[in-house]
Amino acid sequence: MHGLNIKTHNEPQLTSMNESQKPGRKKLFIKTFGCQMNVYDSARMADALDGEGYVPAATPEGADLVILNTCHIREKAAEKVFSELGRLRALKEARAKDSARMLIGVAGCVAQAQGEHIMQRAPVVDLLFGPQAYHLLPELEKRARRGERVIEMNFPAQDKFNQLPDINIAAKNPPVTAFLAIQEGCDKFCTFCVVPYTRGAEYSRPVARIIDEARKLAAKGAREITLLGQNVNAWHGEGEGGTWGLGRLLHALGEIEGLERLRYTTSHPRDMDDELLEAHKNLPQLMPYLHLPVQSGSDRILKAMNRRHTAAEYLRIIDKIRKYRPDIAMASDFIVGFPGETDADFADTLKLVREVNYAQAYSFKYSERPGTPAAEREDQVPEELRTARLAELQDVLNSQQGAFNAARIGKTMDILFDRPGRQDGQIAGRSPYMQAVHVQGPSELMGGFASVTISSAGVKSLGGELVSKAEGARA
Ligand code: SAH
Ligand code: SF4
Ligand code: F3S
Repeated sequence: MHGLNIKTHNEPQLTSMNESQKPGRKKLFIKTFGCQMNVYDSARMADALDGEGYVPAATPEGADLVILNTCHIREKAAEKVFSELGRLRALKEARAKDSARMLIGVAGCVAQAQGEHIMQRAPVVDLLFGPQAYHLLPELEKRARRGERVIEMNFPAQDKFNQLPDINIAAKNPPVTAFLAIQEGCDKFCTFCVVPYTRGAEYSRPVARIIDEARKLAAKGAREITLLGQNVNAWHGEGEGGTWGLGRLLHALGEIEGLERLRYTTSHPRDMDDELLEAHKNLPQLMPYLHLPVQSGSDRILKAMNRRHTAAEYLRIIDKIRKYRPDIAMASDFIVGFPGETDADFADTLKLVREVNYAQAYSFKYSERPGTPAAEREDQVPEELRTARLAELQDVLNSQQGAFNAARIGKTMDILFDRPGRQDGQIAGRSPYMQAVHVQGPSELMGGFASVTISSAGVKSLGGELVSKAEGARA
């Protein structure tokens, strides 16, 4: 699955699956947790193993290699690794009874953070590697197959990006909406967050490689590309005329034939420069949706989080962008119950939310992460209070999201259809504002745009009727 999937954090996702009937091919099953970067990485792991004779399988049963691509962002996400490994152990034993060997690999951010611990606690794991090592996968797999228990956690991100094979998944399963990682790692060190430790220092991929990958994706049928990075707008690179920022890069990508939609995620308020803000006005391919996490509306908490901006500075960015693109759909992440958060701090968050009026949001209870400064603090907020605040915040956010969606009723929008809908005869896609839209329609429309008049709206998705096929249309 390479569809554009908005942040799921905790929800596992399956990587592009097409069970091969060919005999003699080894079966690969990858289960992906966490952010879109992990979704992208899983697709690249499948690429790297393609040359080794591995084909993607739809289920772990009977697979020759199962990889869990893990997420360490919150405690719940990290805990999933061990429950998954328990389930896989039974499958591995069943496979051994058939005299076949199922290798089990753990990848991603939990592997990076807790590698040794996992190897000790879970003998079922054959190979373990961090997010910077997946280009080494063919070699690691060979060693594991020879019976070695392999652990690999090298770091420099540029090695990974430069040594990966060209995208070939797209050739088998052309993605209409594709991810393209342009930046990885984080130097911001928010006091609650594990990402700087699991993904390492900020690294920007060079302009030429990004453009080359985008061209290939477009040639293989991608109509929409989402640029990915832990801090995607910290991206910079040397291009024509000097150093480029993300705004300049987006303009260059906008010139690629066939690419009708561009998006980027996740951005940090500190790195929203004018050229990027202006791209929302000048670049028609850039979709009117911006995920700009604020985490809290309290300056005191923002400071303690080391976010390095105030609530007022954040609101000023949104004012600016709304001047350029009045209809922009704003999205954010929130953390409630950060250590020391008082009722007054939480009230500031609600106030900011009311002021911005979000189209979409992801909100979480603060989760103590080992090794981060905030986890050491004595003034942790009681669990019940975190739960109550989350419920209160989500009420407001859901009603804003519902209102944003309901305001589309009666309007006609271009939808990029990329997947079957929930019910028979339905297809689903995304509006320019990232809303999920379901219609009754022929599956041939998947992979392209069509005009849809919206007739119903819920908090999570819209329903509508096809107007006509509008090839190449954009917002
Ligand atoms: N680089 C992105 C965020 C990546 S993590 C950014 O700066 O916006 C995705 C989200 O997970 C964060 O925005 C935050 O809301 C949430 N998150 C991260 N660490 C967390 C923790 N310890 N507890 C709860 N939520 C957390
Ligand atoms: Fe984590 Fe902050 Fe970096 Fe985002 S900016 S990845 S929240 S440390
Ligand atoms: Fe999770 Fe790592 Fe992404 S911790 S959110 S998979 S960067």
